[in-house]
Parts: sequence; C-alpha cells; structure tokens
Amino acid sequence: MTRDPRYDILFEPLQIGPVTAKNRFYQVPHCTGMGYLRPRMLAEMRGMKAEGGWGVVCTEYNSIHPSSDDLTHTSASLWDDSDIRAHALMTEKVHAHGALAGAELWYGGARTGNMMTREVAMDLSSLPNTAGHPFQTRAMDKTDIRNLRRWHRKAALRARDAGFDIVYVYATHTYLLSNFLSPKINTRSDEYGGSLENRVRLVRELIEETKDAVGDRCGVAVRFAADEEIGEAGVPIHGERRDMFAMLADLPDLWDINIADYSVEMGVSRFIKEAPLEPYMDFIKNQTSKPVVTVGRFTSPDTMVSQIKRGVTDLIGAARPSIADPFLPKKIEEGRLEDIRECIGCNICYSGDTLGVAIRCTQNPSMGEEWRKGWHPEEMNEKRSDASVLVIGAGPAGLEATRALGKRGYSVTLADAGKELGGRLPREAALPGMSEYIRVRDYRAQQFHKMTNVQFFLESPLTAKDVMEFGADHVAIATGAIWRKDRFDGEAFVEVVPEGAAAEVLTPDDVMDGRLPNGPALVYDEDGYYMGGVISEKIKAAGIDVTLCTPSEVVSEWAGKTSERWRIRAHLMALGIKTELAQALTSFDGKTATLACQFTDAEKQLPFSSVVMVTHRTPNDDLYHDILALAGGDAAELPFTLTRFGDCEAPAIVAAATYAGHRYARQLEEEVDVDQPLQHDRVDVGAQGRKPSKAYLDTLLLYYEEEIEGEAYFAGVADRLAEPHHKQAFQLLSEVETYTAKAMRPLIDKYGLVPRPEADLHVTGRDQAAQEISDWDALIEKMDKIFPDYIASFERLEAMAPGAEDLPGLKVATAHEVAAVEFINRERAGASDSLAPLRHFLKTGTS
Ligand SMILES: Cc1cc2nc3c(=O)[nH]c(=O)nc-3n(C[C@H](O)[C@H](O)[C@H](O)COP(=O)(O)O)c2cc1C
Ligand code: SF4
Repeated sequence: MTRDPRYDILFEPLQIGPVTAKNRFYQVPHCTGMGYLRPRMLAEMRGMKAEGGWGVVCTEYNSIHPSSDDLTHTSASLWDDSDIRAHALMTEKVHAHGALAGAELWYGGARTGNMMTREVAMDLSSLPNTAGHPFQTRAMDKTDIRNLRRWHRKAALRARDAGFDIVYVYATHTYLLSNFLSPKINTRSDEYGGSLENRVRLVRELIEETKDAVGDRCGVAVRFAADEEIGEAGVPIHGERRDMFAMLADLPDLWDINIADYSVEMGVSRFIKEAPLEPYMDFIKNQTSKPVVTVGRFTSPDTMVSQIKRGVTDLIGAARPSIADPFLPKKIEEGRLEDIRECIGCNICYSGDTLGVAIRCTQNPSMGEEWRKGWHPEEMNEKRSDASVLVIGAGPAGLEATRALGKRGYSVTLADAGKELGGRLPREAALPGMSEYIRVRDYRAQQFHKMTNVQFFLESPLTAKDVMEFGADHVAIATGAIWRKDRFDGEAFVEVVPEGAAAEVLTPDDVMDGRLPNGPALVYDEDGYYMGGVISEKIKAAGIDVTLCTPSEVVSEWAGKTSERWRIRAHLMALGIKTELAQALTSFDGKTATLACQFTDAEKQLPFSSVVMVTHRTPNDDLYHDILALAGGDAAELPFTLTRFGDCEAPAIVAAATYAGHRYARQLEEEVDVDQPLQHDRVDVGAQGRKPSKAYLDTLLLYYEEEIEGEAYFAGVADRLAEPHHKQAFQLLSEVETYTAKAMRPLIDKYGLVPRPEADLHVTGRDQAAQEISDWDALIEKMDKIFPDYIASFERLEAMAPGAEDLPGLKVATAHEVAAVEFINRERAGASDSLAPLRHFLKTGTS
C-alpha cells in the first residue's frame, strides 16, 4: 500500500536551524519513569519511535544540575559526563533510523523538592514548594543566576556531545523560567524582574547562550506557553504573551508551543478532545519566521494536515499518540490508517511518571518493555507449532491475546457470551465522557478482519464440557470480573445492608445495564479511580440527586496519578454532585445511610433511596475452576494448557488487561525463565567492562611471586629442621604455596602479567630460609604474629577484583593463609592434628 497523496505534506522535510527533520512527525519531550535511572530501557523505547517514522524524538525533561531534582518523578539528567554516555545510547538508536534527537534542558525551581540530592532549591524569590513539600526556595541572587546560566550552557554542550540535534530552553510548565516570565510571580526588583523586558531577560540570555554553545551543530528550541492562564469557559487569557513572544520571535530555531493549563494540554479524553490548543495558537505563526510545533493528542492524519495547511503549526507534536503507536507515521506513510492504534486519552502513561515506575500504556502493551522483554510494538515472535488456541472472553485481555496470537500465526478462536466484542469496554465507553475507550476494542477488532487464522463467535457462552469437546491445544480464560455489592473494611468484605432490610443496592454493572437508582442516591466509591465519578455523573444526568462518598480524603484519589483528579472534582462540583469525604459507608437500610468518619469513627445518618457500590470486583473465574475440576484440580491432567489472565485472574485497570493478554500471547509455547523474566536495567557494578585497577594488578603479581618464593622458603627451612613433625609441617607449607601459586596463575596469564623468573624467586626464597631461625617455638611464635595479616591482605585483594570471575582463584589464595593460621593455632595449642588444616587445603583448595 502507498500513502494517500493528501498526506504528502506530513512527509515534507523541515529545517530546524542547522539540522533538518525528515518529516513533520515530532515526538515532543515526554517523561517515561525511566530517565537517568533506566537508560537502556529508555534508549530502546525512543529508538522504536524513530523506527516507527517519527522525524524528531525528544527526551524527557533533563535536569541540568542536582539542585533541580524531581525524584520520585524520574527525570533525565545532564549533570556530568556519565550522562553523555547514557544519552548516547538513545541518540545512536534514534539516528540509526534517520531521525533527529532532541534534549529538553530543565531547571525546576519551586516545583522541585530535591528530595534525593538534598540541595537547596532555588527560584526567583523565596517561594513555597509548589509540589506540596514543606520547603521553600532560596531567592536567587546574581551569583545564582550566573551559576544557572553556566550549568545550562554546560548541559547544552553535554547534550551536543551525546549526539543530540535539538537542544531546548524549557520556559513553561510552571518551572523556573516560566516563573521569571510571569508578571504575577516575578516580583524581583533587579534587571530580571519588573518590566516585561526584564522578565524575559533570563530566557533571552539562555537562548542566546545555548545558540552560542551548540548552535553550529544543534537547533535550539524553546518550549513556551501561548497563554498565561485559562479563563472562564476555557477562554484563554493571553496576558502579555503576544508581546513576550514578539520580543523573542526569531531568536530560537524552533518554537514548541503549549499552554499554561496542563489539564488541557495533556487533558484526559473524558474532558479534552483532539486538537484543544488551536484556539491558543492564533498569533504564533504570524509573528515568527521560525518553525513551530504544537501538540493536541493528534491521531487523525486529516486533522494533522489541516493544522499544517491552515498555518496553525509546522510540525505535528505528539507525546501520547507516539506512546500508543510508535509506528503512527509509518502507518500513515504506508497507507495503513486502519492499523493505527489510537491513544484513548486515559493518561495511564503519565501515571508511570507519577508513581516513579517505567511507563505503561493502555493501548500499547509493549511500551516500556522494548529492552527488558525485547517486545516490539509491531512484530511478534513466530508461532512455535500448528497448535490451535481457544480464547474465552472478548474483553481487553482476550481481544489483545487473540490479536497478538493471530499475528504470531496461531489458529485462534475467540468466544464470548455477550452480543458484541469488547467485554467491559463498550459498557464503560457508554458512560459520560468515556467514548474514546472504545478504541481499545476497535483497533483489535479491526485487525481481526485481516487475519484468516482468527475467528470469533459472539453470544456463545461455553461450559467446561463445551471447552473439553472443542479440542483446542491451548485454552485461555479471560472472562473478566463483576462489581461487588459489599465493601472491604480493611480486613474483610462486609455487607452494608442489615439482615432482613429491603434496600436498593446497585453496582456499576447495574447502572451500565441501564438500571438507575429509584431516588436520591449515594455513590459509595472505594475503587478510587474514574468509575465513582462517571457513575455519579451518569445518574445525575438522569435528573437524580447524587452524593459521592469515599473513605479517601479526596475524590478519585488514584486519578491524581493520571493528573485528572482536579478536573474530576471540579466537574462534579459544576454538576452539583455533593461529596462526603473520609467517610466509610457502614450501613444502609433502604432509607438511611450511616457514614463513619475515617478518623474519629463518629457516625452520621443521611437519607437516600438507593446506594451504588463502586467498591471492588469478583473475578469471573467459574469456567476456569469448572474446567480444572474436570481434571481433578490438576491442570496437567487436561488435554490442553489452561491459563487465565486479565480481570478474571486479578481485577485491575484496562492497561493491565491488555498487557496480560499480550504477555500470554508472547509467551505461549515459549520457554520462559520464571527466575529471570526480564532484563534488569540498573547500574551494573559487575565485571562487564570494568577494568582492573593498577593496584589490583600490582598486588596480584606481588602475591603470586611471594607464593613462588614461599615454596622455596618453606622447603629450605624444612631442610634445616631435624624433628620429623616439624620437617613435615614445613614441607606441607611449601606444597600449600605451590598449590596456591597454581591457582593464581590463570589470573597472571589473564592480565598478561610477567613475574620474575621462577629460578630467581626460588633463590630469594632459599636465601630467606637460610637466614631463618630454626628454633621451633620461636618460629611458630613469629608466624603467629605475621600470618593473620596475610589473611586480611588476601581479602583486600578479593575486594579489589574487577569482577566475580577472578574470585575463585583469589579465594583459594585467601584460604591457604586461613589454613596456615589454623595450623599455627593448633601447633601452639599442642594439638595432635595440627597438620590437618594444611592437608585439607591441599585436597580441596579450601580452608
Ligand atoms: C507521560 C507524559 C510525560 C510528559 N513529560 C513531559 C516532560 O518531561 N516535559 C515536557 O515538556 N512535557 C511533558 N509532557 C507533556 C507533553 O510534552 C505534551 O505537551 C502533552 O502530553 C500533550 O501532548 P499529547 O496530546 O500529544 O500527549 C508529558 C506528557 C506525558 C503524556
Ligand atoms: S496510556 Fe492512555 S493516554 Fe497514554 S498513550 Fe496510552 S492510550 Fe494514550
């Protein structure tokens, strides 16, 4: 297939300062929960986007100095040269596919807690920490500003040396530079505050200095907000932004334009649809001759073309669409629009950042797994056999398993008891604002049409007997979960309706099936994500009075991680939905709900006709257990493999279900090392690549030579001793030295060390023996003083070893000293078996 000529404009190259983007697909900076902590995972993931056709692939925000540390949100860093090496992993992978790599330099100011580095955060004045930490910033003086400029320049140089083609001045998102620009926040009275010109000064200086530092090799971009805030009914308040922009208009090589309100810019689909920034962009392209990129959760190529043709933007910026489908540009280029995996706007990707874990995506289960599991978003491992698979349940887990198994080449049958594909998806997508969730089903259903090896049957409830008769080689159960009517009190599931009471208690399943409360309703939310809010909204839309009650102190607590909690709360307030916070529902008798304060247990009674329990779910796993029962409870006795996954295994979010289905498909008939299911991306202090230190090599050689000398020394002393036991002891000690030298020899050869000739070492040893005292007790006493130190010396040598593979030889060396000391101890104690430790060592190489 070829691309539709209507989309040609998306594939036109564009110059950005000294570099040229091959097309208009621009992955704007977005964090991943990986940052400087997981560089290999990050590099593989960004490389995948370049492979998928993105013309520019940027990093996440890149801290320029330890005084801007956002952990537990994992940023990237450009603090020292080790960062160059880490970033180079990414730029090489991005360049390999002809894409440009961009680095966003970042200084957080009052948004950073510096919880890891413990540096004092700085901002333009003594500001409270805006991320909620009980710290304030130091007001930056002139020295601080000079330092900041130097750090920024150094970071830009490091970015260039790491191979980046675009370097950002990041002047938005309420971080330090946007505070300097702000007429409200910037109250400085020096040349960096006050007038517009003064407030723009620092950003101007940084743009100029970055251009000066790297402008010959890299394009310099500025991320900038087109408005100061969003007013009533979403009308932008531009403030002085137009003038500010005009002052800088042609200074950078690229403008990356966003807006002040993150909840619109990165809004969830429940509230914000495609291309929401367009109304804010009206003055941008008129005022600059430089290329412009902006965002808008673009997944439709028609919208993209329209934005470029109408002069809204030159490049199609994308964070989430590139996460949901790293191959989006390629699919447009190849005329495969039906293959695009459209972002659903759930912001689960962002929750990875909030939680400090690697990114995940509802639509793209391979996101974040490119390096550690080797998953490619478009390619599957080939099937291992001609086996057939029966997947039961067409919700997100079953759909993804079927699609991915089909792609592997297996013959797959998907069966569902329902009337349509999707399981929970069409039901939830019908709730207020949730329509885009249906894309999870639609993308997969669309793929089935292309696969002759996949068939699906609806309205086909199966019993365990049916499954046995079906004759598949593999059976996968993905039958979902149903909402419960009780609640969890921290220890057990408990009923809220007193025994004998007649009370209407509904669940989200009832409401989604169209059964609404018969009067004023209490929606009781223990789930804490979006369901409590959307169910409340659905009931309210039917004209029924609703109160949302939760044991949490905030509404939709988990939705804070996807950055939609504030919107949800504001929306519920606007709809007139009342809230009861930090209250547990302890009882409902049909007329009165009793709520207990989570802190004091104080109870209050409120009148309701109905309660909707948005609490927890029960896995729908009867079929799984029925099948197992037919085999006496032992899956190994079945004529097929039996697996359950998704909500029917452990109820969770949709992203967990698509991931579970995908993993099943990837791993079917593959050997999976359950002890090591994934690669571990963290600083590896092991042997690989670590060079032996000079001290280690010098010591190794010295000790080896001393063993050869020792062999001659002990033999020489033995010759001089008359008493047979004494003579034997020293002969054994000589053999112990020989044994040890042999054990160390491979290391001497490994590192190409050149010992003095053995004959010379023997001469030295013999000379020492000739001068040694021959009184036995004095000899043992002398050895008792010296030998314990030898043990410590060999242990130090072990610690200096560059890797674990040197340790066996070194441990033999340490053991020989331990054996010698044990011999000395026993000899001093007059033990009859004093030679045993030496003999043991000569047999085993251990002490
Ligand atoms: C997971 C995630 C992380 C983000 N991290 C950053 C960041 O590090 N720096 C930044 O300037 N913007 C960041 N953003 C905002 C995006 O660059 C972008 O402006 C926003 O997501 C809207 O674009 P989209 O609709 O294409 O997702 C992030 C967005 C997401 C979804
Ligand atoms: S997690 Fe959700 S919002 Fe993020 S990219 Fe995937 S589908 Fe889009």
